[in-house]
Amino acid sequence: MTAVGRDVEYAAKLIADGGVVAFPTETVYGLGANALNPNAVAKIFALKERPSFDPLIVHVADFDSINMLTTSTDERILKLAKRFWPGPLTIVVPKSDIVPGIVTSDLETVGIRMPNHPIALELISKSGCVVAAPSANKFGRVSPTRAEHVLKQLPDVDYILDGGKTTVGIESTVVTLDEEGFIVLRHGAITHADLSEVLPPSSAKKQEKNLISPGLLKSHYSPNKPLFILGETNKTIDPTRAGYIAFGHVPQGNYKYVEFLSEKGDLIEAAAHLFEKLHAFEDSDVDYIVADPVPETGIGIAIMDRLRKAAYRYSNTAEL
Ligand code: TXA
Ligand code: MG
Repeated sequence: MTAVGRDVEYAAKLIADGGVVAFPTETVYGLGANALNPNAVAKIFALKERPSFDPLIVHVADFDSINMLTTSTDERILKLAKRFWPGPLTIVVPKSDIVPGIVTSDLETVGIRMPNHPIALELISKSGCVVAAPSANKFGRVSPTRAEHVLKQLPDVDYILDGGKTTVGIESTVVTLDEEGFIVLRHGAITHADLSEVLPPSSAKKQEKNLISPGLLKSHYSPNKPLFILGETNKTIDPTRAGYIAFGHVPQGNYKYVEFLSEKGDLIEAAAHLFEKLHAFEDSDVDYIVADPVPETGIGIAIMDRLRKAAYRYSNTAEL
């Protein structure tokens, strides 16, 4: 059984020695290993049952590590990093030779991020490594916002560093650059408007860039029970069998349980609770989950992206 604890020194040593450690960030828990050790990184893919075509983000604790990981001297990279790091932004840049192909799925680029979490930063610094880390869930399943969620899905990790509940609650915004400006590959807490304050947006679409990102997967973040978004499903819901994830209003109907993303309709609060509520209903005795849609502004774009991908595999479910 995996140990869960708060021993950062021990976790850092595990990473330095080629082990795999789950750790908290401000977004979701990550599953980390020394990014420059291909054998250690291979363990991440095995534990997650993640397909090798899906590249990992490399987590750093200082700005100097950027130079080690990229061949690019594009000053816009540092401009973004200085404005948004530490924070929920992953910047995809041309990779240097020291980054093993297993980290980047043999792409010529690497995603880099400095997480805004004291335990994550201490872990990375003390390990002396740059740390490759996807979200610490089985591939395609709901991302973890608590140590308990990691334990539920990944009982064979070497160690889980417990930092309590994460604050942002959904994964980082992933961005890349072309000659014109930035392209958002995955929506997150740092919005298009936030990025536009620093750089112009590119007119290119992410599909045109032919890049592999979860933004291109239709199904992801799925709970193990059917999920339906109200207003986006034609299923007839029996409320007495359903858990309801509500936003901004008290639902009518005799629902088995009601959980609020945000009672007052606050999108930032909603993002922080989204995966939390999905995990809670996964573990409860409801037969399925229904969710309110949220307004698609600001971080609401990222919330609806996660909800639609989570609901996708259930959209053809015949029986309820
Ligand atoms: O908030 C987060 O980003 C969390 C925490 C742990 O940092 N990590 C995370 O990792 O969400 P993951 O692996 O679940 O999602 C990262 C996604 C990958 O699925 C991949 O598609 C995209 O970022 N990505 C990584 N490197 C890329 C690259 N070189 N080009 C395009 N997309 C990339
Ligand atoms: Mg993930």
